[in-house]
Amino acid sequence: MTRAGVLTGGGDSPGINAALRSIVRFGSKQGVDVLGFMEGWKGPIENLVQTLTPVDVSGILHVGGTILRSSRTNPFRMDGGPEKVVQTLMMNAVDFLIAIGGDDTLGVAHRLSEYGVKAIGIPQTIDNDIGMTDYTLGFSSALEAITDALDRLHTTAASHHRVLILEVMGRDAGWLSLMGGVAGGADVILIPEQRFNVDTIFEKIKRREHLKKRFSIVIIAEGTEPEGTKGRVVEEAEVDAFGHTRLGGVGQFVANRLSERMQIPVRVTNLAYLQRGGSPSPFDRILATRFGAASIEFALEGRFDVMTAIHGTKIVPVPLGEAIANPRPVDEGLLYLVDLFE
Ligand code: F6P
Repeated sequence: MTRAGVLTGGGDSPGINAALRSIVRFGSKQGVDVLGFMEGWKGPIENLVQTLTPVDVSGILHVGGTILRSSRTNPFRMDGGPEKVVQTLMMNAVDFLIAIGGDDTLGVAHRLSEYGVKAIGIPQTIDNDIGMTDYTLGFSSALEAITDALDRLHTTAASHHRVLILEVMGRDAGWLSLMGGVAGGADVILIPEQRFNVDTIFEKIKRREHLKKRFSIVIIAEGTEPEGTKGRVVEEAEVDAFGHTRLGGVGQFVANRLSERMQIPVRVTNLAYLQRGGSPSPFDRILATRFGAASIEFALEGRFDVMTAIHGTKIVPVPLGEAIANPRPVDEGLLYLVDLFE
């Protein structure tokens, strides 16, 4: 019998449970039993472990979040952290480890290969910003939530004379803001790949008068920076174990400055965790199922220090270190969508 360990780290997203279900069910078919480590990298550090049988993962395909829970624990920030991980894996007779998460979680998995850990990564973040994969798990579900939010904002906006701003996640990449903005018909789309200028936003809104529109909808990613300032708008200056500050508030920042020059009210909605919770979309359920099963296959073929990725319609292994080293901003070829209708 081969034994796999699995953990889920960083910000969760819909589809993780579907991936766990696939790993366990396909694993059991291939003679691989699975141990789940709880709360991200805290699990292997503190030996927080539970067996995952096909019965344990039954009924979770459509459930958001992660039954293994998550944390932003970084073993490389702790004395003897990596060694503890290795020890726990040995103690539990784990042959290989599947880490499901974003660049931080996968970065740890990659660095642990220097310690002899056989790791495979599954890219999971609603931000869709991991290199060498066309999609990350969770992006599609978050996009649905954002599209739905914009549809709702439209009906109320159209009943009034005002500007509504929707702030969405997206620390370094604007996938959610751009694709959500296109799908939900936002009038102004702001993404971290392009600094913004409040005068330009004002002009764009003014230009909508020719459409006889009395309202405008602006979508902005949390990591978008104003021109002429240093750094992003942060909610908390405090940094997490991976050195990230908590972003938030850029929507209000824009609203305050727009209000100074607009005659109509400017209101902000921060979609925050509502875009990260809830059930996975059909796309994410299928992607998760394919990622999970392929990760077991790659492990049985002896491919480690890889990330399970999707290229077009194919699931492929890519070098984990390279994927982490090359985060993926919005493709330049898609930037025309930002102001297609202006
Ligand atoms: O998972 C990535 C992300 O969604 C970022 O866009 C966001 O900045 C971050 O998570 C917030 O996560 P948390 O508040 O859970 O730390």
